[in-house]
Amino acid sequence: MAQTEKVKVGIIGSQFEADIHACAFKIAPQEAEVVAVASPTPGNAAALARKYGIPRIFTDYCAMLHERDIEMVTIAAPNYLHAQMAIDCARAGKHIVCEKPLAMTIPEGEQMLNAAQQHGVLLMYAEELFFTPKYLKAKEMADAGAFGKVHLVKQSEKHFGPHSSWFWNADLSGGGAFMDLGCHGIAFCYWFLGRPAITSVYCQMGTFVHSDKTQAEDESLCILNFANGAIGLVENSWARRGGMDDRIEVFGDAGVTYANLHMGNALPTYSENGYGYAVEKAPTTKGWSYPVFDELWNYGLPQEMTHFARCVRGKEQPQATGKDGLVVLEALYAGYASAGHGRKVELPFDPGSAKRPIDLWFNSKTQAPGIQDHPGIAARPKT
Ligand SMILES: NC(=O)c1ccc[n+]([C@@H]2O[C@H](COP(=O)([O-])OP(=O)(O)OC[C@H]3O[C@@H](n4cnc5c(N)ncnc54)[C@H](O)[C@@H]3O)[C@@H](O)[C@H]2O)c1
Repeated sequence: MAQTEKVKVGIIGSQFEADIHACAFKIAPQEAEVVAVASPTPGNAAALARKYGIPRIFTDYCAMLHERDIEMVTIAAPNYLHAQMAIDCARAGKHIVCEKPLAMTIPEGEQMLNAAQQHGVLLMYAEELFFTPKYLKAKEMADAGAFGKVHLVKQSEKHFGPHSSWFWNADLSGGGAFMDLGCHGIAFCYWFLGRPAITSVYCQMGTFVHSDKTQAEDESLCILNFANGAIGLVENSWARRGGMDDRIEVFGDAGVTYANLHMGNALPTYSENGYGYAVEKAPTTKGWSYPVFDELWNYGLPQEMTHFARCVRGKEQPQATGKDGLVVLEALYAGYASAGHGRKVELPFDPGSAKRPIDLWFNSKTQAPGIQDHPGIAARPKT
């Protein structure tokens, strides 16, 4: 393929994240073009295709994988489907961009890596926080020594819960707020610190607000210890009113920086009447609100997709790979086990035969029902 030719992309999925992928390629069309979309619900692929001018539509993603000119496929489908989809893409010789979290289980994640290696394709992990301009700036400053030796990195992502029903069903998602949003924070701290090994994880979680619709946690607090001595603190919530909140803090012996992804790039606004759209998952625009502009660019999504397309052309080396996704998955499992047992869990961590990360929290709760304060709060350590 000529170096100058755009990478032809197929998207699996047609809803929230698939729309973001399509939009990201539209915002940054220099390196890639979306030529196909596959989604099983009749009419949905066609609707996304109409919105972004995508020429080919499929209800079966496997049929899309037969299209010879497609070189890269982005997976924007529910978590439990990632592994099979990625393996099918690899077998079809397509480079893969997989949404977070990488997979439901560690063996699934390993199979994805093996399939990509065996078939000579790239498995790229769609962790956009590696491309978020504000967070990249913080990392550039840290790497240049601005904060001295960094000993604490915090990342938090919070909103009032996901838009689609499958997220709330742990059989399809693998877990709650920690699985859904904690994967970003774990990846962020790991990447920010230069990928030192995660040596231990301590986590607490509970279901405080949404126990009517999910057994999964809607609040989680996670402390990561890294081999270089630094600590990561990852806070997540599906129980935070007011729309998306995403922020970091970095502390070193010579400095500190704070970044709030949305607020600094928003227009503090008051409106009696309301208006169209403020920010992801904000339920209203009446009263005070903080409308963002260039939302996808501020997240780094067009930059991320451009980078992945350039990797397919061999112009850049992947900055976010399946290996990163696997590191995150192991920490997620360790986090659920920690919350279940009420103690720090050392890595490497073998989750045994757990089919979903959240099982390690659930199982501990069912084994020790007498020591719970609240149906949704993890058991205290056994004495
Ligand atoms: N990077 C981020 O910040 C971010 C944000 C949101 C979602 N995500 C991730 O993106 C993925 C999708 O989430 P979403 O919010 O778009 O969910 P969604 O419910 O909005 O959309 C899911 C899509 O998957 C499609 N799908 C389901 N089964 C399929 C199948 N067998 N073949 C093809 N398509 C199928 C559905 O039809 C739908 O179009 C999840 O893994 C989620 O964690 C990432």
